[in-house]
Amino acid sequence: MAVRRLHPDQPHDFAFTPENMAWATETIAKYPEDKQASAIIPLLWRAQEQSNGWLPEPALRYVADMLGVAYIRAYEVATFYTMFQLSPVGSKAHIQVCGTTPCMLRGAEALVEVCKRRISEEPHGLSEDGSLSWEEVECLGCCANAPMVQVWKDTYEDLAPEALEKLISAFERGSKPQPGSQAGRVSSSPEGPPTTLVDPTLYDGSAIGSWRDRFPELAEGGSAASGQSDKSKG
Ligand code: FES
Repeated sequence: MAVRRLHPDQPHDFAFTPENMAWATETIAKYPEDKQASAIIPLLWRAQEQSNGWLPEPALRYVADMLGVAYIRAYEVATFYTMFQLSPVGSKAHIQVCGTTPCMLRGAEALVEVCKRRISEEPHGLSEDGSLSWEEVECLGCCANAPMVQVWKDTYEDLAPEALEKLISAFERGSKPQPGSQAGRVSSSPEGPPTTLVDPTLYDGSAIGSWRDRFPELAEGGSAASGQSDKSKG
């Protein structure tokens, strides 16, 4: 992982909006009296959301002051967790390309090439108009639908380079593409139509009869459990 440093150009100050301040106060109150510093991750995350997707240095100090911890503690958290962006990201989309093994084996490197060509040669760089940025990240939990990218809180899965090109064009236009599989799959179901459990009689009971036919002792009001229990009594 590259060294993570604060961006050289920083705003002068940061303060939560009244809505975010109310949310932060409520969030901090969820932690025990002497453990409220543990709210640092949700508060930094909310600060990042308020700051157009990245975490300015004044926001680190602001959150540290709210929680009564040393500034270095907020700095440590922000530089350790890659979910925190330390430099400005695209105003319309920050594309996180998963580069971990399953996605890599399914073509993530080709997705990275698309990002380099369409957005910026280097990760964390901005496109010319500042609307897009990208980076490579570790597993985002959608391995069954690899390769994939995440944009803000949405995932776009089963990607091919052409599909990613279309997504990027949509974000450039300011629209929000439909998240999920870009190959038409439902969740993580197999590609194409189902290949197993396709016999409808498995579900309508006509092939095997109803459960009353198969387990008459239960249908008659007895119970397997009580039968076992009786046997165990000997
Ligand atoms: S390896 Fe890419 S989502 Fe898990």
